[in-house]
Amino acid sequence: MKIIGSSAELTAHLAEIKAGGATVAFVPTMGNLHAGHLSLVQQAKLRANIVVVSIFINPKQFGANEDLASYPRTLDEDLKQLDGLQTDVVFTPNDKDIYPEGVQSHTVVTVPELTNVLCGASRPGHFDGVSTVVCKLLNIVRPDVALFGEKDLQQLLLIKKMVCDLAMGIEIVGIATARADDGLALSSRNGYLSADQRTKAPELYRELERVREAMAAGRRDFDTLCGEAIQRLTKAGFKPDYIEIRRRSDLASAQAEDTEVAIFGAASLGSTRLIDNRQMDLSTASAR
Ligand code: PAF
Repeated sequence: MKIIGSSAELTAHLAEIKAGGATVAFVPTMGNLHAGHLSLVQQAKLRANIVVVSIFINPKQFGANEDLASYPRTLDEDLKQLDGLQTDVVFTPNDKDIYPEGVQSHTVVTVPELTNVLCGASRPGHFDGVSTVVCKLLNIVRPDVALFGEKDLQQLLLIKKMVCDLAMGIEIVGIATARADDGLALSSRNGYLSADQRTKAPELYRELERVREAMAAGRRDFDTLCGEAIQRLTKAGFKPDYIEIRRRSDLASAQAEDTEVAIFGAASLGSTRLIDNRQMDLSTASAR
């Protein structure tokens, strides 16, 4: 496994590999790897000859009062896990490499429409930070395919739109959310939960499931369903941010006649913000 800290070195290394005809799959991460990230790497290995994983905690996607300073940094453990999966290249740039003149001076990539709803409404600037860094990382690595977890579904949809709008010619693949046995979506932020909060946390997933089951049974009173879920989460000790049913194509609020939708949820337990979603095809009631 080759560990490369500079984008210039990575570009040169990959140019040589690509000249030999190899295809490249890319998995961008912010480190603190869990089973969800590892499944992205395993899926990446099935899709190309060479797998590149980046580990970069992107300051531009954290708001002023968010957890940039305390975000878990576990590079040694991450590298061990990636080595165990025979990852080919790990890219570990520093802030200066990605933002040479500082974060504020950097060109910003904004994906319209998908950016300011759901998590974007509660975390102003977050998705501009995501699209900007992902665009830059994709331009550095220039992979054939890049893989992202479906847990961050809004992020995945926004990246797909960016890559399509900017004709970047990269296949973007979403991989199913990895869950703990009790249903909690795996996330680096789960590590912030106290034992008591960890016991309560899967209730977010269960609420999304309740909404999904009600829709599968034919209910289309989306606002009522979401309102009921919010009430139950509040009673269970969460501070809900939103439970919403939206169209997957453009994240507009779902209407009864829509088919490809997702139920999105975000709620805090103490200071830890959890997100999750369930995708659903209303024409067949199938879900994932
Ligand atoms: O999902 C993440 O870990 C990050 O948002 C990403 C895609 C690596 C960009 O920093």
